[in-house]
Amino acid sequence: MLKRTHNCGQLRASDKDTRVNLCGWVHSYRDHGNLVFIDLRDRCGLTQLVFNPESQPDMHKLSRQLRCEWVIAAAGSVRLRGEGLENPKLPTGQIEILIDTLEILNTAETPPFELDNAENVAEDIRLKYRYIDLRRPAMQNRLKIRHRVAKLARDYFDSEGFLEIETPFLGKSTPEGARDFLVPSRLCPGSFYALPQSPQLFKQVLMVSGMDRYFQVVRCFRDEDPRADRQAEFTQLDVEMSFVDMDDVIDVNERLIAKVWKEILGIEVKTPIMRMSYKQSMDEYGIDRPDLRFEMKLKEISDIAGQCQFKVFTDTIARGGVVKGLCAVGGGKFSRSDIEKTFTGLVSDYGAKGLAWFKVVIDEQTKQPDLSSSISKFFTPEQRKQIIERFSAQPNDLLLFVADTITAANKALAPLRIRLGKELGLIDENDYKFVWVVDFPLFDWNADEKRYDSLHHPFTAPVAEDIGKLETDPANIRSQAYDIVVNGSEIGGGSVRIHQPQMQAKVFDLLNITRQQAEDRFGFFLKALKFGAPPHGGIAFGLDRLVMLLTKTDNIRDVIAFPKTQKGQCFLTDAPSDVDLKQLEELSLRVQTHHL
Ligand code: AMO
Ligand code: AMP
Repeated sequence: MLKRTHNCGQLRASDKDTRVNLCGWVHSYRDHGNLVFIDLRDRCGLTQLVFNPESQPDMHKLSRQLRCEWVIAAAGSVRLRGEGLENPKLPTGQIEILIDTLEILNTAETPPFELDNAENVAEDIRLKYRYIDLRRPAMQNRLKIRHRVAKLARDYFDSEGFLEIETPFLGKSTPEGARDFLVPSRLCPGSFYALPQSPQLFKQVLMVSGMDRYFQVVRCFRDEDPRADRQAEFTQLDVEMSFVDMDDVIDVNERLIAKVWKEILGIEVKTPIMRMSYKQSMDEYGIDRPDLRFEMKLKEISDIAGQCQFKVFTDTIARGGVVKGLCAVGGGKFSRSDIEKTFTGLVSDYGAKGLAWFKVVIDEQTKQPDLSSSISKFFTPEQRKQIIERFSAQPNDLLLFVADTITAANKALAPLRIRLGKELGLIDENDYKFVWVVDFPLFDWNADEKRYDSLHHPFTAPVAEDIGKLETDPANIRSQAYDIVVNGSEIGGGSVRIHQPQMQAKVFDLLNITRQQAEDRFGFFLKALKFGAPPHGGIAFGLDRLVMLLTKTDNIRDVIAFPKTQKGQCFLTDAPSDVDLKQLEELSLRVQTHHL
């Protein structure tokens, strides 16, 4: 076989007359009768090959057999394409190779889709023929960036004194709150390992072990329904540090973020990255991962709405709810059916019972701004004026409101805000707005089960000055947790941990985890805390989400070589699949199939 001297993205006009050998795939084939042109492709690019019937009749004849995706090696000499024949879009566009030796290394069946047209092909076909999909430059580029981010992170953490230490996949259930993937044990029949939802407890144990600074690029497994930015199997850049407070963890990790953005995108991220309290984020954006690329802040008008005659509003407020909404600048252009189909439809998908709306218009008589809507008659002119003033609204703006509990209103308004931001062209796709969300509540009240849940996880430390509230006012304890959010995507989260066993026991009590349950689930860990655990804290980034942002895709499957579908299936290998009865017997398992 001819050995490569160059790759397909390398040769330039300055290489004129050099003899070269190239290997790759036939990307395209053009037979101009007397000349055959091939675009040869490899991971580095495309190079044009030319077969001339006069100078090399045998090779020219052979070249006419070639088809797309055949694998070849070819040798020849570099020549300039000549005036008017250059392709400015290709880095190799000034040259071509006049081939004198061709070896066909392999043929290929007709591909199920053309590489250049793959964006229009159903994703399940792309996933089934992933090896072909991954030949596309766009896909290869994403995986290259993924590699570079992981390498940058490894080099960075190494230079900061961190050790990469592997932790087990076959383990015990961890506390990230999703469902576990279980693996049956053959040697201990009836017992199961759980695949880690994160290395949380192991990394804390490593701090007790004196490892001081740990990181790991690690797969995590969560049996939850995949979404556009979620996979059942995903990768974390996991970090833990000893003798630190929140500022120390934030500092090391935001310098990494700045380095990644600088080296991958050439974008300067100003540090320190701004911080915002959970409360401010919920009040103004309705969500704990605010997209700060545009304004359109949410505001309450419960004080005004409580006085009006619109029963939906007054009843909601009488029941302790709120009326909250936003002002879509220039939203007056939306028609009634846009609003009632698209926007009301959107909020009702998120559980809202309705969407009240007003257009800001100039009143013909008073020549002053006023609200126009089928429900404006339920508001006095003064109330309408107050609403306009609350949002500093201008004519041609659109005001939209949800009346509900504060939780339900936020849940509907947050996605509405993003949708309006997109529809009104307020989002600059080249902009990255970073924020640390801090001061999360330690607990979330679980009304169904009448107990507190951890907002982060049960090993998160409370803010020191709030510790007194553990007995008296748990709902208002803030935690030392922090999330890093970019453009509305949570790319990482972590916390300072509880390192004293007494405090950990108190938190378990509030979570209604009995001593016995705590012992059964985390006994090994609680014991470790008793043997000299240093103060420690850490964070985990979602590597897949980082790469999604860096490559501007909103589909997590685009940044994973072999991803799973919404149902957790791999279309390439057909996993998950049946197994032999014998395998089940060895594992002491029997499968009950329910046929509906
Ligand atoms: P958390 O559960 O917040 O924290 O996860 C950390 C980050 O991992 C990413 N992520 C996911 N990415 C893709 N698919 C998923 N299903 C998925 N779930 C989470 C997110 C998230 O911010 N042990 C703690 C971290 C710590 O406290 O140090 C943890 O796992 O980007
Ligand atoms: P109705 O009186 O039910 O026809 O509602 C009149 C307007 O109020 C419609 O635009 C509804 O979408 C809106 N609406 C109804 N319920 C709510 C609610 N909970 N919050 C905000 N608007 C609502």
